[in-house]
Amino acid sequence: MEPKTIKKIGVLTSGGDSPGMNAAIRAAVRAGFYYNLEMYGIYRGYEGMIQNDIKKLDSKNITHVLERGGTFLKSARSAEFRTPEGRQKAYDNLKSHGIDALVVIGGDGSLTGAHLFYKEFGVPAIGLPGTIDNDLSGTDSTIGFDTACNTAIEAIDKIRDTATSHDRLFFVEVMGRDAGFIAINAGIGSAAAAILIPEKKMPIEELVDKLKVRSKAKKSSNIVIVAEGGKSGGAAEIAEKVKKFLPTYDIKVTILGHLQRGGAPSSYDRLLSSKLGVAAIEGLIQGKYDVMAGLINHKVVYTPIKRAIVDDKTLDEDDFRVAKILST
Ligand code: F6P
Repeated sequence: MEPKTIKKIGVLTSGGDSPGMNAAIRAAVRAGFYYNLEMYGIYRGYEGMIQNDIKKLDSKNITHVLERGGTFLKSARSAEFRTPEGRQKAYDNLKSHGIDALVVIGGDGSLTGAHLFYKEFGVPAIGLPGTIDNDLSGTDSTIGFDTACNTAIEAIDKIRDTATSHDRLFFVEVMGRDAGFIAINAGIGSAAAAILIPEKKMPIEELVDKLKVRSKAKKSSNIVIVAEGGKSGGAAEIAEKVKKFLPTYDIKVTILGHLQRGGAPSSYDRLLSSKLGVAAIEGLIQGKYDVMAGLINHKVVYTPIKRAIVDDKTLDEDDFRVAKILST
């Protein structure tokens, strides 16, 4: 497509925040300034676009944000943006500021919004994969996934200390919506006894047998990682079921929850966000619209948003194999 002339770019973060979003905003804004563009912050995602919460950014806005978790532009999930009337209001506000292109940082719902906006109003938009869940195709890792895994592992290490002291069995629930990427990564990284993920069903009987074998081997602690989106329920439900088979076990449940979304981004997330922020601006200048910028084998790749949000990013089979070998 012939690139349109772009002078003013709006940046927004939407959906669940993730560590590295600030670094991505900063990179996009700095790259915009580098290419002599005017940059605008759209606060509270699509909700702020509808309510005209839009401000011109200068370099002060992006000073010392790279290292901070969360998103200084704030985030929201907007029900109104799902309606044609809401999107029309949002478009009118963008036009009133003369904004002619968008950088949208978020997960599949946020990128779907960018795709619709491009289709309905022709506003050039590039998405960046901002979610701890790692459930977007077209990138090896999403912004925040690495940090979330590190945070989960750090927390599980602490649980391990107390689990070992009391010879306890812990069920630790991690985030990921309906994907098991955080679970498998944190599970391998914390020497879990078993990892339960939505993508692969493990019958309770199999889990119980595994725990019995470990008990015979005199393992002093057992930590089972449960992905929140598992079909057999969350950590509390699994623990209840296991208790029926192993009534003498001292069982505890910990739900890590939103602490996995906070904190300073890791080195990898800082690099990823910085590269993708620049790639977003350069992509828009080159006429790459309705795409998501991602990193595959350390190289920037632009994938059509429609393709990136398809729910088909699969876990690496080798990860399961390794997890199985190491937990026996
Ligand atoms: O998509 C990111 C995520 O943190 C998921 O892992 C989790 O299921 C969900 O968001 C939680 O959303 P909320 O913060 O709205 O409760």
